[in-house]
Amino acid sequence: MAETRSIVVLTGAGISRESGLHTFRDADGIWATVNIEDVATPEAFARDPGRVQDFYNERRRGLVDNKIAPNPAHLALAEFETAFAGDFLLVTQNIDDLHERAGSRKLIHMHGELAKARCGNCGKFIEWREDLFTDTACPACDQAGGMRPHVVWFGEMPFEMDRIYEALEACDLFVSIGTSGNVYPAAGFVQAARMAGARTVELNLEPSEGASLFEEAVYGPAGTVVPGWFTDLAGSL
Ligand code: APR
Repeated sequence: MAETRSIVVLTGAGISRESGLHTFRDADGIWATVNIEDVATPEAFARDPGRVQDFYNERRRGLVDNKIAPNPAHLALAEFETAFAGDFLLVTQNIDDLHERAGSRKLIHMHGELAKARCGNCGKFIEWREDLFTDTACPACDQAGGMRPHVVWFGEMPFEMDRIYEALEACDLFVSIGTSGNVYPAAGFVQAARMAGARTVELNLEPSEGASLFEEAVYGPAGTVVPGWFTDLAGSL
């Protein structure tokens, strides 16, 4: 096997499922109970900001619940990152903070972070663990009415795409974990990694939309599959 010097890992909601957070597109997923168009677009926020704030307030409250904790899959990625001597980048679509709570540091939240809020007036973003309201004042500029969750809605550009594509173009291993492969640009990362000549691996509960694009796959719950797979990888390096 060729030497592994540079790794990009992509994670989605499936990695946090065993921590008690819901995925989006499974039968019991978030999009089965609420419409994307009502809560996760800039248009929804313009039309009914209170409804959108409520949706994210509820999810933020769920996240700060001290019963929610990283599971063995988050922990295995953090442990691997620490031990691996090469380049490593973890790109998550998740807005929860379970990767950082597990100890991951080389991490990009491409869809933003639930535990941060951003001011539409001054552009500052800050740690935020409380509820947000339509009249919440920005602690930086003091203006009310512009605060929103620091998350990427449908129709908005994900964060740090230049850095992500740079890493994908240089990687020799790409691992996708717990994502259904429905949402671009993340769903296209496997193709970028293949173009770079990388080995591509899917670790998911079931074959994703883009399953045929991966050279290898292991199907099963992330809490079991991910620690085993990364232990084997570390042993093979
Ligand atoms: N272990 C591994 N995978 C799992 C587990 C588990 N315990 N439970 C579910 N899965 C898998 C599902 O089979 C599914 O393929 O995780 C995937 C979750 O897919 P989605 O719900 O579509 O979540 P995700 O791919 O992260 O969604 C992408 O869509 O709505 C937006 O912005 C949101 O970041 C999100 C993006």
